Amino acid sequence: MKKTVQELLESRVSTGKFDPSRKLEADVLQELVRLATRAPSAFNLQNWHFIAIQSDEARELLHPLAYNQPQILAASAVFIVCGELDAHERLHETLQPSVEAGMITDAIRETWVEMAKASYGENEQARRDEAIRSASLAAMSLMVAAEGMGLASGAMGGFDPAGVMDAFGLDPARLPVMLVAVGHAAEGNWPQKQRRATEEVLEFR
Ligand SMILES: Cc1cc2nc3c(=O)[nH]c(=O)nc-3n(C[C@H](O)[C@H](O)[C@H](O)COP(=O)(O)O)c2cc1C
Repeated sequence: MKKTVQELLESRVSTGKFDPSRKLEADVLQELVRLATRAPSAFNLQNWHFIAIQSDEARELLHPLAYNQPQILAASAVFIVCGELDAHERLHETLQPSVEAGMITDAIRETWVEMAKASYGENEQARRDEAIRSASLAAMSLMVAAEGMGLASGAMGGFDPAGVMDAFGLDPARLPVMLVAVGHAAEGNWPQKQRRATEEVLEFR
């Protein structure tokens, strides 16, 4: 039986130990990214990019750049989830399908394009913040999608972004925000860890 969203959120764990003998087909990785891109983004910028690391060669390149964390070699794939710093420059084209579908008018599109230009055009910090926000939402969506497909996942911030950009020849406008390992869990992973009490992290005003 399919898990509810509540059950997915309560059962997802950050998996560190993967079964290296179990691979995932490209169509499963594609489906994960398709669902990840259902995440929201400011102005529907969709300022994200995913690199699925699968080959031995790419893993060997990434492994030392992620402090030799074993999941880089053992997971079925490791996504480098990037945020894009220049997506506002393509917003007119990005919104074309929404205009064609009658969701937004051409006038609304132009307003959004102008607003995005004003927000990010001259503001490097805002571009970077937006890239990190969008990539993070997409990464979480990808992990929830994986959980819903019966797969294990693990977010990783322990890597050298500049080293990854260099080693994989990334476009300078693509910022590696997070690694997300996916695959089948091996034995010996922790259950979901304890969280701070809701009353401690929530305030009403
Ligand atoms: C942004 C981010 C970076 C993380 N980096 C790593 C990492 O580099 N290596 C690792 O093993 N786990 C990493 N984790 C996993 C966290 O340790 C884990 O989410 C936390 O301990 C809670 O575990 P749980 O989700 O299984 O309850 C990271 C998680 C996040 C969200």
